[in-house]
Amino acid sequence: MSAPKKMKSSVVAVVNGLPGNMGKEIAQACLRRGLEVADVALTGANMPKDVTVEKDDGGSVTVNLVGPGSEAETQLKEALEKGRSEGKIVVAIDFTHPSAVNRNAELYVKLGLPFVMGTTGGDREALQKVVADNGLFALIAPNMCKQIVAFQAMMDTMASTYPGAFGGYGLEITESHQSGKADTSGTAKAMVEYLNKLKGGDPFDVEDIKKLRESEAQQAFGVPAEALEGHAWHTYTLKSGDGSVVFEFKHNVCGRRTYAEGVVDAVNFLAARINEGADKKLYDMIDVLKAGEMQ
Ligand SMILES: NC(=O)c1ccc[n+]([C@@H]2O[C@H](COP(=O)([O-])OP(=O)(O)OC[C@H]3O[C@@H](n4cnc5c(N)ncnc54)[C@H](O)[C@@H]3O)[C@@H](O)[C@H]2O)c1
Repeated sequence: MSAPKKMKSSVVAVVNGLPGNMGKEIAQACLRRGLEVADVALTGANMPKDVTVEKDDGGSVTVNLVGPGSEAETQLKEALEKGRSEGKIVVAIDFTHPSAVNRNAELYVKLGLPFVMGTTGGDREALQKVVADNGLFALIAPNMCKQIVAFQAMMDTMASTYPGAFGGYGLEITESHQSGKADTSGTAKAMVEYLNKLKGGDPFDVEDIKKLRESEAQQAFGVPAEALEGHAWHTYTLKSGDGSVVFEFKHNVCGRRTYAEGVVDAVNFLAARINEGADKKLYDMIDVLKAGEMQ
């Protein structure tokens, strides 16, 4: 006889990184989808002492913000103990700053606080290691837009299954993001690797990715004015040597909501694994996609 299934526990999300762009979007998505948002969150220096997150259907939740320093550990510990004493699963969500990635992960490990890390940058190897060494439940993913992650995985599979399928084709890549994003998109860079395998010949250099950060060029590319401060528009064009065949792969993401929805899927996925006491502890968005546990 199989073991009886445990009741689903309710989930409390500690949204670290509030009141940042992603933090706000994620806190709203959590409330929209029935997760509780903890009344405390880690934030950066020079931030207000609290933030109010509006619910879509009226009402709001006020979250006290704790800046870097000794209070951070005490406050997180209290939130964790309070949630656990009420029989809830507490998960930290981290959308903070590259410089905080490793420090925050070490704190979560110290407290035994499971976490979903969406913040990019930091020492990624050390991040994976500290989680693996300590057997903490965690989900780490630099891109939480499920559809983009699935698209990337499909291109990876196509490239390794059919290398050279686009032999002799030329490649052009244009990516557009809000002007505050200084670096080239990590997704676009990963795509270069797959597309190079598909086309063979002289490899395309990531330096040749056309990066749009000025509003005039972005709007000429089609980005709506209201999405200029938050978007991810990428077009990958493969053209045959004689120009008679063109393949174009594109994703045009306006705003940040799709990433926040992916974060809630990730939190629910992780909570389900905690609830069932899974042996595997460290996950990424591919695990969420494979499990089909998304909304
Ligand atoms: N995984 C994904 O799908 C995904 C999607 C979008 C953004 N991101 C990443 O998420 C991070 C945040 O992005 P954003 O657009 O919300 O940035 P943002 O600048 O709008 O917000 C960052 C927030 O982090 C806070 N912060 C800074 N230092 C901190 C620290 N030491 N501890 C706790 N909080 C701190 C700031 O006060 C601010 O509230 C970036 O690394 C970004 O690349 C990931």
